Amino acid sequence: MAEAVRLEREDEVAVLVIDSPPVNALGLAVRAGLADGLAAALADDGVKAIVIRAEGRTFPAGADISEFGKPPQDPWLPEVCNRIEASPKPVVAAVHGTALGGGFEVALSAHWRIALASAKVGLPEVTLGILPGAGGTQRTPRLIGAEQALDMMISGKPVPAAKALAMGLLDEVVDDDLPGAALRLARRLIAEGAAPRPTRDRRDGMRDAVAYEQAVAAARKAQGANRLPGPRRIVDCVEAALLLPFDQGLHFERTAFQELVASPEAAGLRHAFFSERRAAKMPEAASPARPVAHVAVVGGGLMGAGIAYACLSAGYNVSLMERDREGLARGLERIAKLQESAVAKGRMSAAQREADWARLSGVMDMAQLAGADLAIEAVFEDFDVKADVLRGLDAVLKPGAVLATNTSYLDVDALAAVTARPADVVGLHFFSPAHVMRLLEIVVGKATAPDAVATGLALAKKLGKVAVRSGVCDGFIGNRILTAYRQVAEFLVEDGATPAQVDRAMRAFGMPLGPFEVSDMAGLQIAWARRKRLAATRDPAKRYVAVADRLCEAGRFGQSTGKGWYRYDGRKAVEDPEVLAIIEAERAAKGITPRSFADAEISTRLMVAMANEGARILAEGIALRPSDIDVVKLFGYGFPRWEGGPMHWADGFGILQLKNAVQDYAEQAPDFWQPAPNLDAMILNGTRFADLNEG
Ligand code: COA
Repeated sequence: MAEAVRLEREDEVAVLVIDSPPVNALGLAVRAGLADGLAAALADDGVKAIVIRAEGRTFPAGADISEFGKPPQDPWLPEVCNRIEASPKPVVAAVHGTALGGGFEVALSAHWRIALASAKVGLPEVTLGILPGAGGTQRTPRLIGAEQALDMMISGKPVPAAKALAMGLLDEVVDDDLPGAALRLARRLIAEGAAPRPTRDRRDGMRDAVAYEQAVAAARKAQGANRLPGPRRIVDCVEAALLLPFDQGLHFERTAFQELVASPEAAGLRHAFFSERRAAKMPEAASPARPVAHVAVVGGGLMGAGIAYACLSAGYNVSLMERDREGLARGLERIAKLQESAVAKGRMSAAQREADWARLSGVMDMAQLAGADLAIEAVFEDFDVKADVLRGLDAVLKPGAVLATNTSYLDVDALAAVTARPADVVGLHFFSPAHVMRLLEIVVGKATAPDAVATGLALAKKLGKVAVRSGVCDGFIGNRILTAYRQVAEFLVEDGATPAQVDRAMRAFGMPLGPFEVSDMAGLQIAWARRKRLAATRDPAKRYVAVADRLCEAGRFGQSTGKGWYRYDGRKAVEDPEVLAIIEAERAAKGITPRSFADAEISTRLMVAMANEGARILAEGIALRPSDIDVVKLFGYGFPRWEGGPMHWADGFGILQLKNAVQDYAEQAPDFWQPAPNLDAMILNGTRFADLNEG
């Protein structure tokens, strides 16, 4: 028997112990081990009941996701589940940790389910673009009915043990000694002469067929607008559970699973899953993080307050610094509001708010930050302003404290150089709103010490954020790609598209908002100020679209002023003839004859721009790997998760096609549309971006 599962004997009970770290995923070895262990237990006449439990942190957390999309290997999980269910001896599943996906399907095929109170069970397959494929869609509604089963599978959210017990998914919940409790249950079943209780024969959830059908119909209607096929297919399978005999229902589920698992959307979602975890693997992760208990945040604006709030919620002591009483009061007020809203939404208890607030202090004198282990400056995005703050922090902070800048564009090396301790300076680029957005770019300067980086990584983990390592360049990974993206969006508008058309094309691609809608939401002022600052150094040979400048000159700064790229009726964006006139005037001034663009060409050009800039970022060593670039876009910029990110998209598009497209677009702006320097070698060697992710 494979060692991923061992068979232990406790008198008349055979215990199958799954032991395959880190999460006991149901890869081939575990499946084979379960099948062999079950066969051995069944062949042994001395065995009267069987317990399945797991060693380590959790009952299996799912099928092995890395096997999806590859040819299946015997024994399949559905087959293993069927054999467990068909056991003539009672089978008990003992669940701890997170029994998810295939792991929970194994538990569903056992005849009794007992769990630790801290355990969670769930069917999160939908988040990977698939559906439960080992009987989950057929067994779950048999136990708990269509409405709850659909809710569980369409939301993908895990259910805590107590709730699962109340729903009927579990038979017993214990506070401790799960292995002992499972044995006792098995022995009781033997003593009572209990017959197996296959879930396939249960009808608990199907007693009210009318309610069942109504729940199916409501879910189908609710999923009508969803562009991902997974939830709709889950509805079909749950309906099939009522209409078809069990074995045919399983076949129905299998067909749907196979269709989904091979879809590009599922491939994108799998890529996102592994990319998120890979991002934490940076060379500095091996260094021990410096201990941090006290975080200082300088700047009480939206960003600073968001960071302070997030740090408080994660359990840090926080000092918020502002220059004057008024600014400080505003900053503290912002934090209080965030807390209130969390309490109102039930995300935070009133007691927690009190405890967090007690760990917060407001200061106006930098000397009071002397005790901080980590200071994050979140002041106005201007080199001199930020440099002043860093100099001040350098003067007061204790040796070994980490100095972090939240700059989004400025040169972290130059900022570090204003201090006497550049090794302690790191960029921690939060995204707004800082307590919501999951991305944190950790910007590593020339002099940054590895343990300062590791400290940033530890902070990110504690805040529940996804950290991505970036080198120093203008805009780092995320904003540098954003700049290229916006640039092409503006070329397209000047060449003949309308802002509304570009936005529509990108929403159709899957972005929550198009580039111009985003600009209007964020406000046009900051970018304008930046362009004015850089105007003197701009290369006149490069194509420059001045439409945004004209909009700002006309007082159109975006949503906050009621007009920008659009006119606003409340929050609703309306196309504005004034804007179209400004665009036409710019075209006329440059002698551009407008041409028409199909929506698909617009989104392709914008994607090619992102991927080509991403390739360049990779060639310069700014990003460690292509999947890190994808993670930045997925977690910081609303890139559609099922597309996997711009580099994953580029693999699907083709590297040769990418280079050709860049060359085809060259007449639009020869200075801009230059193939990234690494594409040729990739084409020559048949390399895809995915090949550069490992290692
Ligand atoms: N298949 C393959 N590998 C898996 C896996 C799965 N189902 N679930 C987790 N892993 C791997 C992770 O990639 C990670 O590998 P790494 O250490 O090489 O990076 C490792 O197991 C630990 O996972 P991680 O997510 O970092 O640990 P965690 O404690 O934060 O979370 C889980 C644990 C189980 C909650 C989380 O991993 C999870 O949600 N897994 C997916 C569950 C799922 O969707 N199952 C349904 C699949 S059908």
